[in-house]
Formats: sequence, structure tokens, C-alpha cells
Amino acid sequence: AAVSDLAGKHVVVSAGGTREPLDPVRFLGNRSSGKQGYALARTAAARGARVTLLSANAALPDPAGVDVVHVGTAVQLREAVLKAAADADAVVMAAAVADFRPEVYATGKIKKKDGEEPAPVALVRNPDILAEVSADRQRPGQVVVGFAAETDDVLANGRAKLARKGCDLLVVNEVGERKTFGSEENEAVILSADGTETPVPYGPKEALADRIWDEVVRRV
Ligand code: PMT
Repeated sequence: AAVSDLAGKHVVVSAGGTREPLDPVRFLGNRSSGKQGYALARTAAARGARVTLLSANAALPDPAGVDVVHVGTAVQLREAVLKAAADADAVVMAAAVADFRPEVYATGKIKKKDGEEPAPVALVRNPDILAEVSADRQRPGQVVVGFAAETDDVLANGRAKLARKGCDLLVVNEVGERKTFGSEENEAVILSADGTETPVPYGPKEALADRIWDEVVRRV
């Protein structure tokens, strides 16, 4: 659609999946490709927005006309989100963020030793970026959008997550080893803090992105 309904607006989108390093060789990660977040960045730019895309480990080309900041870990993503959100009209957290990171980073490659059991990996909590940005709006009237990636009780978990995170909109999608992650299509329900629930049928990730921006435009 040739609409410029985001002209003059600055939107921040996170995409991809954080990687939490164990040593110089290994990390804890997830299956996000970044495609849903990049689709959000492209569609917002097409609708006239100034777009800052915070990309966590996505192997995708930088979209034209979008400011892209590349990050690795959840802690780095948090820094980048807080900086970019300072003057943003909307923040959309499509990135898959690790809830935990290894407590210790081994500066040399962890070795297996003959006859020894593997050492357990101790984890510590990562900051919850979406909850923080929702509680501490960086700018009055800023619209905050989260995602919920669920494998079971998708809608019930999504509703609970909306209440817990405190965002204005929460896009609930089902994920699995071969579902949603990396694919060109998605389906979702957009929940709002006002209580509306908008199902978006299976289709290109751009189509879901445009429906999300429709909801954002009503609120900015
Ligand atoms: O990248 P693709 O391959 O296209 O796949 C798209 C997707 C499945 C990654 C995407 O549609 C999606 O669901 N992204 C959110 C993934 C996620 O981390 O969901 P969650 O339910 O674990 O987290 C809920 C929300 O809190 C998310 O907006 C997340 O960005 C945010 N979060 C989570 C943990 C944390 N420590 N900080 C956060 O800000």
C-alpha cells in the first residue's frame, strides 16, 4: 500500500536472536533468523518511518534506507534499544532474547578431560528489555510492542505475557523447530492492552508486519 502513515515517526525494531557466549568458540542461541523483524523494518520504511533496526546475529542484508545496528548478546541489545528508544515513537521487540546467559565466560576454549564428567553450566538471568522499556517509557506516548514465541497453550501464555510485560501490543505466534523460525510466512494474534485480539491469518511476514504497523499507527 502506498501509504505514508508513518512519515515523521521514528520506529525502533529489534530482530534476530541473541547469542550468549560460553567461551570463544560456543554460545547459547536460538533459531530466530531475523526475517520477521527485518520485514517490520522494511514495511515501516515503506510507510515513511525513520527506522532503526537492531539486528542480533541475523544473516540478512541490511535493508535499504534503514539504520542498522548489529549486536550480539542480550546485554548489548539492551544498551542499543535504550539508546535508540530515547526519541522513538514506537519500539517493536521482534528479537528472540535469551532469558539466561552463562554465569562465567571462559576466555579459553573449554576442554573435555578424560574420565571427568562434564561441568554443569551455571546460568544467570538476562535483563528483560521489553519489560524495562514498557515500565520506563523513554518518551511520552511511546508505543511498545512485544512478541510472544510459544510452543504450548499459545494464546493463554500470550495473554499472561501481555499482562506481565506491560507493553501496549503483544504479537503471539507459535514456534517450533521448523515452525515460524526461518520461514517466509507467519500467523499470529495481535493482543492489545485494551483487550482487543486481532487474528492475522497465515501469510507473508510482511503482511503480519503491516497489520502490526496498522495497530501502531492508531496509537502513536
Ligand atoms: O526471526 P524469525 O526466524 O523470522 O522468527 C520470528 C520470531 C519467532 C523470532 C518472532 O516472530 C518472535 O516471536 N520474536 C520474539 C521471540 C521471543 O523472544 O519471545 P519470548 O516469548 O521469549 O519473549 C517475549 C518478548 O520479550 C519478546 O518481545 C522479546 O523480544 C522480549 N524479551 C524477552 C526476553 C528478554 N530477556 N528480554 C526481552 O525483551
